[in-house]
Amino acid sequence: MSNRLHLVSCALVAVGTSFSAFWILSLNSWMQTPTGFRLEDGVFFVDSWWEAIFNPSFPYRLAHMLNASLLTAAFLIMGVSAWRAMRQVDGPATWKVMRTGALMAAVLAPLQVWIGDLHGLNTLEHQPAKIAAMEGIWETEKGAPLTLFGFPDEEAKTNHMAITIPHGASLILTHDWNGEIQGLNEFGDDIPPVAPVFWSFRIMVGVGMLMVMVGWWAAWRLFRRRDENRDSQLWLLRALSVMTFSGWVAVLAGWYVTEIGRQPWIVSGLLRTSEVVADHSSATLMGTLFGYVLLYAFLLVSYIAALRYMATKPARSLTLTPQQRAMKAEQADDEPAQGEA
Ligand code: HEM
Repeated sequence: MSNRLHLVSCALVAVGTSFSAFWILSLNSWMQTPTGFRLEDGVFFVDSWWEAIFNPSFPYRLAHMLNASLLTAAFLIMGVSAWRAMRQVDGPATWKVMRTGALMAAVLAPLQVWIGDLHGLNTLEHQPAKIAAMEGIWETEKGAPLTLFGFPDEEAKTNHMAITIPHGASLILTHDWNGEIQGLNEFGDDIPPVAPVFWSFRIMVGVGMLMVMVGWWAAWRLFRRRDENRDSQLWLLRALSVMTFSGWVAVLAGWYVTEIGRQPWIVSGLLRTSEVVADHSSATLMGTLFGYVLLYAFLLVSYIAALRYMATKPARSLTLTPQQRAMKAEQADDEPAQGEA
């Protein structure tokens, strides 16, 4: 495949999946913050497609998810390039790819923290029980503390061994030192399972903070001195290779927050998940579940195998004979060879 065709196919896939993301996120956001409908005899009718599609949480979710995908890609390409450099199968293109990833990460990671903050404020307005679970806040409080770590206990309705910052939650969520935050006890039984939401949120935010630090470090190390030496960059290369799959960890954790946090509702405040449970035999359920697990395991193994191949294949410049190398040097200064990255 020529470089141009490769680029065009990548662009087509990116545009196609972004359109797909638009509609999936619009639907999902409607289930979180439904608008533009009327309910007659238990049936939802659309009154305004515009309001249904562009419902209140959709812009935040779309921005947060698209940015998450770009960040995931940035850390993936940096990670694979770092592997290549550590195994000494790198060429000039490897470092260009790593610099591209570093630039993306340095800009997009802080942007993600900012979008995430706005997203959280929107969630506080529409799904306060989800926010209370994310923050592990049980009682409605003015000047609520921010719990950094702790073990939420749903029976005792408290957090064990909590490490807190006084007034922190109020400050972050209401931008007011003494702002009031509704606690979980306010919502009776209509609260999500607290511990998975609480922990998933911490994993997502933790990975996000790591992405900011590693992204800035990588950009500083790779752009400041254009140092493409494996030995002097070894610690950075190690960190980047450890972060290769960090995007997926944060994305999965984020979706756990969003979907477990919506429980016990399938459509927030209107339709319970328990009301839409279908009457299927356990054999059907086991069969489809097993089918999914097999298919996804196959896809995962194939994907890792393809990445491994890319991470270990020697750069074309390393496999050239001295004559070929001299010819190539005459032809183009630093043009990356096809497939080198
Ligand atoms: C560090 C700061 C971050 C904050 C404050 C933040 C905030 C949030 C909030 C509040 C939600 C749930 C919203 C809701 O369900 O109503 C969410 C979900 C999500 N987050 Fe984050 N997030 C951060 C970092 C990240 C990172 C680094 C990624 C991935 C690279 C990520 C990916 C996601 C995804 C995929 C979802 C589910 C889709 C959605 O509801 O937007 N987040 N985030």
